[in-house]
Amino acid sequence: MNVSNIRKDFPILDSRINNYPLVYLDNAATSQKPRAVIDSLVDYYENYNSNVHRGVHTLSVKATEEYENSRIKVKNLINAKSSTEIIYTRNATESLNIISYSWGKKNVHSGDDIFITPFEHHSNIVPWQELCRDKKANLRYVPLNGSGDIDMDKFRSQLSQRTKLVSITHMSNVLGTLLPVKEMIKSVRATPAVTVIDACQSVPHMPVDVQDLDCDFMCFSGHKMLGPTGIGVMYGRSDILNEMPPFLFGGDMISEVTYESAQWNDLPYKFEAGTPNIADAIALGVACDYLQDIGLQKIWDHEIQLGEYAVKKFKSLKNFKILGDRSKEKRGGVFSFHHEKIHPHDIGSALDKFGIAIRTGHHCAMPLVQSYGIVAASRASVYLYNSNEEIDKLIDRLSEIEEYFSGE
Ligand SMILES: Cc1ncc(COP(=O)(O)O)c(C=O)c1O
Repeated sequence: MNVSNIRKDFPILDSRINNYPLVYLDNAATSQKPRAVIDSLVDYYENYNSNVHRGVHTLSVKATEEYENSRIKVKNLINAKSSTEIIYTRNATESLNIISYSWGKKNVHSGDDIFITPFEHHSNIVPWQELCRDKKANLRYVPLNGSGDIDMDKFRSQLSQRTKLVSITHMSNVLGTLLPVKEMIKSVRATPAVTVIDACQSVPHMPVDVQDLDCDFMCFSGHKMLGPTGIGVMYGRSDILNEMPPFLFGGDMISEVTYESAQWNDLPYKFEAGTPNIADAIALGVACDYLQDIGLQKIWDHEIQLGEYAVKKFKSLKNFKILGDRSKEKRGGVFSFHHEKIHPHDIGSALDKFGIAIRTGHHCAMPLVQSYGIVAASRASVYLYNSNEEIDKLIDRLSEIEEYFSGE
């Protein structure tokens, strides 16, 4: 991968922050956007701004075509069977909530079990807590073994005919850990449960194939994969989506309305009530093209290399510890770290003085961060445009910060 050429496509990477060149290592929170994505937003508003699915005039036809083309690009990216299985939402959080409200409301009953893992983002915890409270169902956590990995035998032994839904993150946004989702989904197939993959941290970074994984639902956000904010995806298997009640009611999601009642539209429109986020959906399609042109396997290999390089370099620091055990097979380019004596917010602010952007806090995964006996951590997360030199800058500055605070 030619990182210096890739960087030229991202205008923001030329910025200077506090007089230092920007080193952007907060990609797990949101990615930067290439010029092609930014241009596509302007192009829509300047040249064919119009509503979709409603008009016969030229602008509306063009907007509809571009909007539906982007759905095909997303379908191809994750190898769904049909573009009708791609539902546009605002973000992964909304996608997960739709599954909880719509599928959960109809199919989860008192005494049923819903499983999630201890690695989840709040977006993949709170909707299930609410559903379980509402339905008097049990929210259970997939068990871990002594090394902190999923205990597959124990998990299988806890599955039953009462298991109705299993929702798993593909990759932890705190530790970079990849979960054995394929194996877990295979085990769940012996139960009536549907499987949901939170792919926020995987789809932007590695090849993902929903048919190969055999999951029932997959959720992810456009803004973490070079696309704009405000657009997300809920993939669902068409047989399941067809059986689900709509989540929002109104225009576009109907096929016929009388004064008394209404019939629902076909997929995917049944789940896209009202005027959708046209410009951002189209720009997400452009982001998919960008990722596919470079190649997700190449991007993944690059990030693994950066992660390994960072872990090696971290060893030169005296008292910074990376959370979790990092073995190549299990970790992507996200790593959280902790210093016994320096608060993460001090680390984040000190790095910012040198133009280095990382994330500090609980990373919307309070239970997981707290399981390490801390309330907050620092997190660096890489993407296709990051380089070893940027990791060097991070480590050098952390070393200075460590020295500075040890003198206090
Ligand atoms: C693993 C994971 N799941 C869900 C989310 C929620 O994404 P969004 O805020 O775009 O809905 C995030 C965002 O950080 C995440 O990392």
